[in-house]
Amino acid sequence: MTRVFVTRSLPEAWLAPLAEAGLEVEVRAASSPASRSELLDRAAGAAALIAFIGDRIDAELLNAAGPGLRIVANFAVGYDNVDVEACRRQGVLVANTPGVLTEATADLAFALLLAVARRLRQGHELVASGRWSGWEPTQLLGAALDGSTLGIVGLGRIGQAVARRGVAFGMRIVYTGRSRVAEAESELAALQLPLSELLAASDFVSLHCPLTRETAGLIDAAALALMKPTAVLVNTARGGVVDDAALAAALRAQRLWGAGLDVFDGEPRVNPELLDLPNVVLAPHAGSATVAARSAMARLCVDAVLAVLEGRRPANLVA
Ligand code: DGY
Repeated sequence: MTRVFVTRSLPEAWLAPLAEAGLEVEVRAASSPASRSELLDRAAGAAALIAFIGDRIDAELLNAAGPGLRIVANFAVGYDNVDVEACRRQGVLVANTPGVLTEATADLAFALLLAVARRLRQGHELVASGRWSGWEPTQLLGAALDGSTLGIVGLGRIGQAVARRGVAFGMRIVYTGRSRVAEAESELAALQLPLSELLAASDFVSLHCPLTRETAGLIDAAALALMKPTAVLVNTARGGVVDDAALAAALRAQRLWGAGLDVFDGEPRVNPELLDLPNVVLAPHAGSATVAARSAMARLCVDAVLAVLEGRRPANLVA
């Protein structure tokens, strides 16, 4: 029987079409990532893998899976956990889940931006601690969005969705990216700038680029030094794009005003320096965490697996 290995548990209903198509579906009964040895063992003999961020899909894994492996459906739009070249060499297709998590991730980026701008975490702590003694004219003053500049690093689907929210809040949009995005320029009056100019001009910077060799450590100490001391950094892309130690140092020295972070280099480990800073709001990589987005991501993975195993070309191939 043709076996599909799903490396983390998902609601049964989301995977039902696989069993209905007569496939043997082996679902790992845990929602945390498998150890490397478990992943290698259980991938052996699979025709398809539904994999997740945190599963390293590389030549070793492909060899462990064996020649019967035909597709890796990655339950994420980002696929920096997959060695796409190794998959290509072995003739294994790779699919991801673009489009369906765009609005959810943009919502979370904007939630972080607003939470930091209006110091919601500090306000919550003040009220919840019982120390709040009433309204004060200069208590927890925050940053205004209206009339400010929002810098988007990577104006792809999610970057554009965040930019649209920014426009609705009266923000001016600047962006950086490898190519011009003409439609966004006319729809959002967005202006393309080199990264250094964007960092210097923006009151809020939101990261939406994939993690690649070029973007690893992109926001390092030198980049942070270009930002305004009143600026806010939001990262819902990948932790590796930011040098967390440099970010913590900039925040501690008040060379940057605040940060909203959903992703961390080496997550779930979080640089301890980030934990006790006042104007930082942290989320547990929850950008796509809505029922609508996650169930749609599952559907795209299931559709891709079914397409390949039934001899059709799946949508959303990255290799
Ligand atoms: C993605 O899709 O790349 C997210 O980081 C996980 O939902």
